[in-house]
Amino acid sequence: MKKLVLAALMLAPVMVFAARAQAPSGDTPVAKDIMLKMPKPVPAFEWAYPMQPPGFKGPAPDSVHTAEGADPAMKLTMRQIGDGFGPPDWFPKEHALLPDIVAHGQKPHVIACILCHLPNGNGHPESASISGLTVPYIIEQMHAFKNGDRENIRAPAMIEMAYVISEKDLRTAAQYFATIPRSQQKWIRVVETSRAPANHVGGGGARFFDKGAETVPVAPDMIYEVAESEQVELRNDHVGFVDYVPVGSLAKGRIVAMGNRGAMRSCASCHGEDYRGHDDAPRLAGRGAYYLIRQLADMKAGYRKGPALGKMKDVVNKLSDADILNVAAFMASRAP
Ligand code: HEC
Ligand code: HEC
Repeated sequence: MKKLVLAALMLAPVMVFAARAQAPSGDTPVAKDIMLKMPKPVPAFEWAYPMQPPGFKGPAPDSVHTAEGADPAMKLTMRQIGDGFGPPDWFPKEHALLPDIVAHGQKPHVIACILCHLPNGNGHPESASISGLTVPYIIEQMHAFKNGDRENIRAPAMIEMAYVISEKDLRTAAQYFATIPRSQQKWIRVVETSRAPANHVGGGGARFFDKGAETVPVAPDMIYEVAESEQVELRNDHVGFVDYVPVGSLAKGRIVAMGNRGAMRSCASCHGEDYRGHDDAPRLAGRGAYYLIRQLADMKAGYRKGPALGKMKDVVNKLSDADILNVAAFMASRAP
């Protein structure tokens, strides 16, 4: 029981296991079991697949909180904040009416989308920003999770959902996230630096600042994607993330984006001017570096595959690890 309560405290991905323990069910594989079959992260980018440290302890389940900036009358316990079928919507006036599937999911397998992706669709580094993606792309990706075309240690929650979500609910959810206005897609602040504030991986696998003035070096092969404040633990969707990227990575990333000096097509030729998405190629601008790195590394390793990838496969085959990091830093720094 204690274990269950602890699990309920944690952020998104672990929530899935808590929900599971409460509602065991039939034949649909569950995230915990799917996890055992997932390929390990590509070693160079292990840090971009963040996991909550074992034995992590967050705020007490009964402790009561209000997100900064929200209606002070709205007081929720940590248990409510982690409820996979009724997570908080702190700023209901700032977005369109949430469809039921987005706000509450469907027990027992479909967790409310906003638990992980938030009502603004911008998500946390361990999940994904899905605001402003197109309806067909979102639907296609859910099918890719179901068909085994997207596998990594961050994917099991999506795979479990993808097995059972109805096409109607999927379309409804896709329409909600596709219409989130551009003005609400800004979520990542990029700082190019040789040193970042000291930070650690905490609840839900998010990085948080240590309390203190210490700094740590930002090596050329590492990015720190850190929550702007601990309010992220409350799922405060006014609080985004900062990417501390290595010195020189933005200029190098721009060269990769432009086709790596003629080695391949430019990213803009498919993803659109300003990298805001075009046709079947999704938005890249302003999305978190961790997510972008996972996708590029997974495609290159063959963990993300299938016909939808199309020419993206040729592109990633030509990218070195350094190219992947640099182009992800560059894309994160672009205005969404
Ligand atoms: C328990 C957490 C969780 C919930 C709930 C959740 N997702 Fe996700 N979602 C993730 C994670 C984690 C990823 C990224 C996987 C990866 O890194 O490859 C993701 C990725 C996605 C992607 C791929 C984005 C892209 O750019 O390709 C889509 C689309 C998506 N989710 C849609 C949804 C929808 C729709 C719902 C609700 C029906 C939902 N998700 C609920 C965790 C979640
Ligand atoms: C020939 C067209 C083409 C080019 C050139 C191209 N892409 Fe893509 N890219 C695509 C398509 C199509 C997809 C969607 C794949 C899918 O549906 O699974 C995609 C997907 C992606 C994704 C996954 C996004 C997500 O939401 O999960 C990333 C990251 C990405 N591309 C980065 C890049 C970068 C960086 C470059 C340049 C170095 C680039 N792409 C060049 C066509 C292209």
